[in-house]
Amino acid sequence: MLMMSAMSGPVRISELVDHEPGTEATVRGWIFRTRSSGKITFITLRDQTGIIQITIKKGGLPDDEFEAARAASIESSAIIKGIMSVDERAPGGKEMRASSFRTVGTALPFPITEYQSEELLLDNRHLWVRSREQNAIMKVKASILEGAREWLKENDFVEVTPPIFTTNACEGGTTLFKLDYFGRDAYLSQSAQMYLEALCFSLGRVYSLTPSFRAEKSRTPRHLAEYWHLELEEAWVDNEGNMEIQEQLVMAMLEKVLQDRRDELQLLGRDVEPLEAVESPFKRVTYSQAVESLRGNGMDICHGDDLGTLEERALTQGKRQPVFITSFPKKCKAFYMKEDPDDSSLYKCADLLAPDGYGEIIGGSERETDHDLLVRRMQEEDILIEPYQWYLDLRKYGSVPHSGFGLGVERAVRWICGLEHIRDAIPFPRTITRVYP
Ligand code: 4AD
Ligand code: MG
Repeated sequence: MLMMSAMSGPVRISELVDHEPGTEATVRGWIFRTRSSGKITFITLRDQTGIIQITIKKGGLPDDEFEAARAASIESSAIIKGIMSVDERAPGGKEMRASSFRTVGTALPFPITEYQSEELLLDNRHLWVRSREQNAIMKVKASILEGAREWLKENDFVEVTPPIFTTNACEGGTTLFKLDYFGRDAYLSQSAQMYLEALCFSLGRVYSLTPSFRAEKSRTPRHLAEYWHLELEEAWVDNEGNMEIQEQLVMAMLEKVLQDRRDELQLLGRDVEPLEAVESPFKRVTYSQAVESLRGNGMDICHGDDLGTLEERALTQGKRQPVFITSFPKKCKAFYMKEDPDDSSLYKCADLLAPDGYGEIIGGSERETDHDLLVRRMQEEDILIEPYQWYLDLRKYGSVPHSGFGLGVERAVRWICGLEHIRDAIPFPRTITRVYP
C-alpha cells in the first residue's frame, strides 16, 4: 500500500521549488517540526533533500486525516498530498496546503530535543544522523569521495581491495589493535600501504578506500580509533611527483564540493571563501624550517621531536593555504621511507597540513627500495623481520622507485566542513570512550 510507483510517485522536497503555485504534489518524509492552534496545524516535513512547510487546515482534508496530522509527533513519518502556494514567511518562499495526510510510522517521544548535550547526541547517534547537520556533513563527505574517485579514474588509478586482518604493523606497534585470529595473533590494519606497494608492481597506480584502525590513547579533536583511509601508491613516482598527485587530488575534492555542496556548507555555517581561495601548488616547508619557526614563536620543541596537534595547529593557524612539511628526520617517521640521498638523517617524505589550524590530513613518502638498508633499519628499531618477509620480498623481485600516501577522509571532512571535532565527520564514531551505537 505504501509503495508507490516511480511514475505517480511523491516528489523530493528540493524539487517543490520548481512547482508552480496551484499545482498538486505529494511528498513523503519525517516530521521535523509541528505546531497546532485550533483548526490549523503547521508541519515542517523533512526528506533527504530538505524541508518544506505544510499547512493543514480543518476542512481542507477529511477529519480523521486532520486529526492524524494534529497528533503526529516529531520524527513520525508521513505521506502528504497538497497544493503548492506562495508564502513569503515559509522557508524557500513556498508552502504546501494539505489535502491528504497519512501517517506511515508513528514516533515515540523523540529523545533528542532542541538543546542537548554532546553525550546525549552521541548516545542517540542512530537517530541524530537524521539531523540536518549530519545530513549535510554526509553529503559533503560523499562529494569529497566522488571528486576523488573521478580524479583517480581520469588519472589511471585502479581501485584495489587490500585486507584488514594483518600480521604486521605498518605504522608501529603503539597504536595496534590486536585480536585472536583462529588462535594466532593478528591485527586490524593501520594502513593498506604495504599491500598497495605489492599491488602497484602489478597495476602501476593503485588506490584503496578502507577503514584503518588506530588504538589512539590520545583524546584530541582529530583522532578516531576507526577512520576511512584513502591511500594511493604509484610505481615510477618519486617524492616530488607524489606531492603533485596529492595537490591535484585535494584540489579535485575541493572543486567537487564547491560545485555541488554549497547549500550544505552554508547550513553548516562554513564560510566558503577560504575554500575557494585554496590554490595549488602548495607551499613546501622542510621540517627543519618548521621547527625553527615554531621555536621562534616560543614553542617548546626540539629538532627531532615529531610534530603533534599543537605544533601543527601553530604552523597552520591563520594560514590560508595548505602546506607540505617535508624532509622529516628518520626518528620521527616509519622505517619504510626512502632515505634522502643528500642527507642520510632525513627521509624523502611529506605531510600535508590543512590551513586554519586543522593540521595533517595526508602522510606520504617515497618508499625505500634497498632491501639491505630496510633490514638494517628494522634491526636498529627492534622490528621483527619475520612478519615483514613478504614485504621485503618486493625489493628482491624487480623493485622500482615508488611513492604513496594516505589521506584521512574524516580529517579532510573536518577541514572542509569546518567542524570542531572529527567525530562529527563520521556517522558512528569510534573513539577511546565510544563504540556504541
Ligand atoms: O600519517 P599516517 O599514519 O600514514 C600512514 O598510515 C601511511 N602508511 C599512509 C600511506 O602512505 N599509505 O596516516 C595517514 C593519514 C593521516 O595523515 C591522517 O589524515 C589520517 O591518516 N589519520 C587519522 N585520521 C583519524 N584518526 C586517526 N587516529 C588517524 N591517524 C591517521
Ligand atoms: Mg602521519
